Amino acid sequence: MAKVLILSGAGLSAESGISTFREADGLWEKHRVEDVCSAGCLDTNGEATRAFYDARRTDLKDKKPNHAHKVLVELKQKYPQEISILTQNIDDLFEKAGIKPQEIVHLHGFLPQLRCRECEEIYEIAYVKQAEFNHGACPKCFGELRPNIVFFGESAPLYEKLTSELNECDMIVVIGTSGNVLDVTYFAQLCDYSILNNLEPSSAIDDKYFTKVYYAKATEAIDTIAELIEEFLENA
Ligand code: APR
Repeated sequence: MAKVLILSGAGLSAESGISTFREADGLWEKHRVEDVCSAGCLDTNGEATRAFYDARRTDLKDKKPNHAHKVLVELKQKYPQEISILTQNIDDLFEKAGIKPQEIVHLHGFLPQLRCRECEEIYEIAYVKQAEFNHGACPKCFGELRPNIVFFGESAPLYEKLTSELNECDMIVVIGTSGNVLDVTYFAQLCDYSILNNLEPSSAIDDKYFTKVYYAKATEAIDTIAELIEEFLENA
């Protein structure tokens, strides 16, 4: 059977009340990437960097998955072998919609986790501030803990998984990303069939390379997108 790669970004969670990055009023308008999300920030600006992610993490507690997350999780459960879900999002809304950890790849890390800077052990801390978990020290080696997030300039180990999925997939579905970090125009060119859903055109995406384009809220476009995915899989 054919393979479908679903790649999401901040726009997917926007209707659940989580800020996007580059839109008007987005996170990168209120904070400088250089200050809180770049390699070296933990050493030069540790307190503010931890506070930035503490705020994102505690904010997540009451956020609920929206219709688009739920439809995508149902699709994954119906076609576990054919569909891969990879997300740039660090929130846990797919998990709250019922996806299992092994069924999703968080390319840019995961907010409810901390990682030891020394031994690399990962800890699940849910929605608490970093300092509230074992006073911010690794329970195993007493090393310094950090948010398990990929900062700009750091390596993103799970991009290997993205590359292998791109090599295998026949259809790509891109939802809610401006394409400034991942070159989704190029990804679309690698697949026989591609779908783009954003609120509006992005200067970093050339939408003529996509088979279908929907400029609409994800919760409004998702039912049509799900039908197209099922049609593609059933006819492949
Ligand atoms: N439905 C669909 N798309 C939406 C919606 C919505 N309700 N709301 C916004 N969008 C779209 C916007 O049109 C925009 O194209 O989501 C996109 C959000 O773009 P960005 O804010 O740039 O977010 P993203 O592409 O996920 O950012 C990539 O950059 O700094 C980072 O690491 C961070 O993973 C993030 C990466």
